[in-house]
Parts: sequence; structure tokens; C-alpha cells
Amino acid sequence: MSNQVWQARKQQVIAQGMGNLNPLYVETAKNAEIWDIEGNRYIDFGSGIAVNNTGHSHPRIVEAVKAQLDNFSHTCAMVTPYTSFVELAEQLTARAPGNTAKKAVFLTTGAEAVENAIKVARAHTKRSGVIAFKGGFHGRTNMTMGLTGKVAPYKAGFGPFPGEIYHAPYPNAFHGISIEDSLQAIDDLFACDIEPSRVAAIIFEPVQGEGGFYQAPPAFAQALRELCDKHGILLIADEIQTGFARTGKMFATEYLGIEPDMMTMAKGIAGGFPISALVGKANIMDAAGPGGLGGTYAGSPLGCAAGLEVLKIIDEEQLCEKALKIGEVMTSHFRALQSDFPVIGEVRNLGAMIAVEFVDPQSGAPMADLTKSLVAQAREEGVILLSCGVKGNVIRFLPALTIEDEILAEGIEKVKKALAALV
Ligand SMILES: Cc1ncc(COP(=O)(O)O)c(C=O)c1O
Repeated sequence: MSNQVWQARKQQVIAQGMGNLNPLYVETAKNAEIWDIEGNRYIDFGSGIAVNNTGHSHPRIVEAVKAQLDNFSHTCAMVTPYTSFVELAEQLTARAPGNTAKKAVFLTTGAEAVENAIKVARAHTKRSGVIAFKGGFHGRTNMTMGLTGKVAPYKAGFGPFPGEIYHAPYPNAFHGISIEDSLQAIDDLFACDIEPSRVAAIIFEPVQGEGGFYQAPPAFAQALRELCDKHGILLIADEIQTGFARTGKMFATEYLGIEPDMMTMAKGIAGGFPISALVGKANIMDAAGPGGLGGTYAGSPLGCAAGLEVLKIIDEEQLCEKALKIGEVMTSHFRALQSDFPVIGEVRNLGAMIAVEFVDPQSGAPMADLTKSLVAQAREEGVILLSCGVKGNVIRFLPALTIEDEILAEGIEKVKKALAALV
């Protein structure tokens, strides 16, 4: 049966809120390539939204998960735990930036990791307020929607959101928001909306993901750290999209010269198996009482087995170095296109989190329609692309860090061809 037939069947039974960017149905996927049920091949520049940093079906991850499946698939870590659960926590707490002793808790999704970060921050500080950033994305649950700073499609129609959440602008050199502008806005929040002594946490993404791949400058992160220390506020780094070698470091926070109080991790953590983590300073993480954190599937044994293997692969296959190389290759190709395609307003990256932003060369207006058409045209050429940005005018490239050089080059050529067909 064809993709078209399955898409029609999908539309009959899946609520439209769960949209799909590409009406193609996957048969198999290997490293950076996907084949659909019609036998079409695609180069995957989305990696399941930054999940398959280690590629699709990395043989070592498949083997580790199969071995785990042969033993058991679920007992519930809160009832009868298993050693991989402790081992993965040991690894993550040791690898999280900063010297302070750390503890972890495992969950299932990214949104849950963020939810738990806020729970822990409130339990520890006994305060309620949270400051997040415009353009930020933290998930689709009620609290994380509230923290998210992008209305369509994530918040529209879903309110009311939890109280005591405030948004400040995120620094953005391309759009003229300076570090000082952002810090001033937080100061204004303290003057107009909530006194700092009632703020439990400030949560930020080291690189805004959904928001458009804008990077937090180190000076901004350091200023946030100082502000938090001054007022007893906890600083939470949401590393769900940036973690696990994606940016050329294990965690993007390592570029910032700060130690956050807590970090959220998911996506790349286990190469496609649903597990997430909250890692933070031990004295803070222990604020929640026994039974207060967790979930039935939290820290699934399949996720733990996959997660331990992912860490070994990152080390042994030098995926941080590979992320930097991919970033260089892609940015140099797309920058070289800027003179022929003046709609490319900016090409930016941190490692293999690469973005191309499309704006009208005359007016500077965001070109969301072109961006959407490029996703569709690239699919025709055989490349899976993801868009992002509050205005929907950014293409984000998130190839597997294990991508073969020739597949990367082929994919870039196809994107060029798709763009040339549109402008
Ligand atoms: C930075 C960030 N935080 C949180 C989330 C939510 O993760 P999940 O979709 O697994 O709930 C995402 C997902 O895209 C994300 O990029």
C-alpha cells in the first residue's frame, strides 16, 4: 500500500493535533538514511528531532537492547531496580558540567524531565515563580507549555497555564536583542511582576531549539548565574535538544563557563529509546521526598541499556569531534550559497546544530512560506528537513553524528537543488 493510502488511513484515526511533517511511512532506517514503504530513500537531516545522534539502528545499541530484552523489559525501577539504572546515573552525574556532587532522576520524556526540574526547584527553594524565555520550547504538558515561549502551535487554545511563569526575551544578535536587553527585561520582571525572593528558578536552553537555533552567549549565561546566586534562584539548563555530543561537547553548557543547578536531558540520551533524566546538585535533588519523583516507566531498562551504549559510542567514535566537523562542512556550504541566494539571511551553528534562516533580502521579513516549501521540495529530492523558529523561517539541520561523509555531501547537494527550484 502507498504512503498516500496510509496517510488517508492516518487522518481517519489520529487526531489532527498530532500532525506529521512528511506523509511518508518508514519501512527501515539505517544510520542517516530512511527508506519508506514505497522503496523511496531519504537522507535524514532531522534524526527524529535530534534523537538519533548515534544514527538509526546503531548495531551496538540494537545489540545492547536485544540483550536487555532477553533478560527483562520492565520491572519498574521504583519497585525492583536494576544495575543499569544506577550505572547510567553514575555516568551522567560524573559527566554533567561542574564539580559539585550530583544526583539524577530518570523519567520517560523530555517534558517530564522539565516538569520534575520545576518540582525539585520549588521543593528546594520553597518558592513558586519561574522565569523562562520567549522563543523557548520545553514540552507539551501543562507546566512545560506554560514555560514554552512560542504560541502557535504549542499553546494556542490550551490555556490556562500554571501561574507564576514569566518570560524574558532571549538574546538574539541577528534580531537585535542584546544581552543587556534580556537582563534588563528580567530586572523589569523583578520590578513589575514578581520579587526575586519568590522566584524558584530560571530555565533556559543553551541553544534555543524549536525557537530557531539561537545560542546563549557565554556572557549571558554567566550573568544569569550571577543573578541566580545573588537572589537564591536555581538555574536550570534545558539540554534536551543540545545534549549528547550534538553541539561538539557532551553538553552545550560546557561552552558557557557555568555550572547549572540542574540539567534536563532526553532525546540523544538513548539513541531512540524513551528515557529522560534530570541531573542536578545533590543537595538540591534531594529536596523532594521519597516517592515524590518518578513514574511507572521512568528509567526503563531498555532505555538504560541503550543509554550506557550511547555514551560508549560517543567516546569511542569521537562524536563530539564529528559534530564539529559536520558543523564546519554544512555551514561553509550554506554560507557559500548566500551570494547566489540572498534569501539566506544567516547561517549559524554550534557543532552539528546548524540553522539557515530565510528572510526577505529587502525588508528582512521572515520567509516562512519559502521555508515550508523547502521542506516539501527537499522531500521530493530525497532529504528530510525540519523547520523551526518562532516565525517558522528557519531550517534546522540535525544529521546523525555518525553520518558518512559522502551521504552528508549528497544531502547538502540535494538541499541546494531544492532551494534552486524555489528561488
Ligand atoms: C529543549 C527541549 N525541551 C523539552 C522538549 C520536550 O521533550 P519531549 O518532546 O520529549 O517531551 C524538547 C523537545 O523538542 C526540547 O527540544
